[in-house]
Amino acid sequence: MAKPKTVYYCQNCGAQHAKWQGQCNSCKSWNTLVEEVISKPKTSDWKSSHSNKSLQPKVSKIGDINFEVEDRIITPDKELNRVLGGGIVKGALVLLGGEPGIGKSTLLLQLCLNLPVKSLYVSGEESTKQIKMRAQRIDQTNTNCFILADTSTQNIFNQIKKVEPKMVIIDSIQTLRTEFIDSSPGSISQIRACTAELITYAKETHTPVVLVGHINKEGHIAGPKILEHMVDTVLQFEGDQNFIYRIVRVQKNRFGPTHELGIYEMQAKGLKQILNPSKILISNHEHDLSGTSIAATIEGMRPLMVEIQALVSSAVYGTPQRSSTGYNAKRLNMILAVLEKRAGFRLGAKDVFLNITGGITIDDPAIDLAVAAAILSSNNDLPLKHSFCFAAEIGLAGEVRPVPRLEQRVAEADKLGFEKIFISKHTKISIASENLEVVRLESIADLVEKLFL
Ligand code: TYD
Ligand code: MG
Repeated sequence: MAKPKTVYYCQNCGAQHAKWQGQCNSCKSWNTLVEEVISKPKTSDWKSSHSNKSLQPKVSKIGDINFEVEDRIITPDKELNRVLGGGIVKGALVLLGGEPGIGKSTLLLQLCLNLPVKSLYVSGEESTKQIKMRAQRIDQTNTNCFILADTSTQNIFNQIKKVEPKMVIIDSIQTLRTEFIDSSPGSISQIRACTAELITYAKETHTPVVLVGHINKEGHIAGPKILEHMVDTVLQFEGDQNFIYRIVRVQKNRFGPTHELGIYEMQAKGLKQILNPSKILISNHEHDLSGTSIAATIEGMRPLMVEIQALVSSAVYGTPQRSSTGYNAKRLNMILAVLEKRAGFRLGAKDVFLNITGGITIDDPAIDLAVAAAILSSNNDLPLKHSFCFAAEIGLAGEVRPVPRLEQRVAEADKLGFEKIFISKHTKISIASENLEVVRLESIADLVEKLFL
């Protein structure tokens, strides 16, 4: 018998190598090559069991291609719809990654249980009874929801032909195997081949397919990076297991915006959508606390009020510590330097800890001003009023700079009953609000004056 041929795949980029080596030739990452037995794929995939000449692709003029605007399935999950850019595009492959136990299976089962159209939930990890138990816990049932516990793509496609679902969920891609490839489920060639089969199926039948992807210990979706390149949309389900809030974040979206957030709360009866997240991200204190400020930020299309907490204390050891959770540590250092140089605060010998509450990470530079305010408030031990909020960027010269989409931020602050919003003096737009006073600042020194003097 011929010796089985083995190759080495890079787990990072999927490049193929004839022999093992420490570094991948293609992406130059170290220790990412894994050995796999290959066998020539026989005519693989969905098409083989379904060879229809009329489905053979032909060249067409772009003007002749029919395109319906409503080519999306609007799901009952408003958060998911928004994250995906207005519903799931028909024929799209969506990859949902996340740590074990974060709630991926719960989110998708709940989606199937609420969907008005026929859906098929394929699980390679749980038995049908276990899925039923979960459905009972969520306390919902739906005659349109079909369950299959299987891992062979050929069986799955056979069942799909019988049921003809309008949406397919695969939980998870790492458990699938196609009989055309010999390697074990979860190996790179299996993942790649199964995904390719599912893509062909999705594109030919205009059925959206949602894949669950496991995460490795570095926090990346397990399997080759090309899995992320192959699918249309990559969603990341984040949150702390001990924390009840869960966040769906878009990493890639061929059919909609990225940087969109969906927020859920894990309850005893499944995930609950949080349609007004600003309310939950701001804690309700009886008294004003020092070191706490509120930033009016925007995540994706949606304004979001987040609470920023800073703790400034004298450094015990020679080198002061700077620690930042949910905010770029380099940007924190920059703000500290600006406060020192432009406003005369001696923060060089202080430990500074910064935290964005709710476990979320914000990249929006518009929270700079709130960060500076929280640091100053903690440093001087002077509480800021809980009815104040901030929306501006800070420049290296200590200037307070305008930020985009200020109307939306102001409207959100107004809606939530804030009394004062601090923005840049150079904002062109006129903002009129009866209950919300708008304070325009020129520089950091201006902030100190308006806040504490
Ligand atoms: P699960 O969806 O199994 O996570 P994943 O598929 O990402 O591994 O989520 C399991 C967790 O969610 C588990 O710790 C229990 C919790 N949970 C609830 O709190 N309420 C519920 O209604 C359900 C179904 C799960
Ligand atoms: Mg699961």
